[in-house]
Amino acid sequence: MPTLTIMPSGKTLEVPAGTTLLEAIISSEPGIGHKCGGKASCGTCHIFVTEGRKSLSKIDRVENERLDAVVGVGSKSRLACQARVGEENVTIEILGFASGF
Ligand code: FES
Repeated sequence: MPTLTIMPSGKTLEVPAGTTLLEAIISSEPGIGHKCGGKASCGTCHIFVTEGRKSLSKIDRVENERLDAVVGVGSKSRLACQARVGEENVTIEILGFASGF
């Protein structure tokens, strides 16, 4: 089962493939924002993927449009509610998530 490492806390979780990052994060980081309930419209679940980006589900049009609306967001950005874990380990950075975009 792939692992998800959450920085800066360094917590590592085993996460079944197909689980969204948000579903996985909430179990150990209950403070993560998710105002829209996972509909890719609020941006409060924004995270950075530092390792394993290719293992995640691809960015779809809705997520891409939301990310494009963000000033200063780099290629490591994802919406945790939209990115699903694949078969490989992933490391994410949640600095700044609570303030959303
Ligand atoms: S929870 Fe709102 S964009 Fe992810």
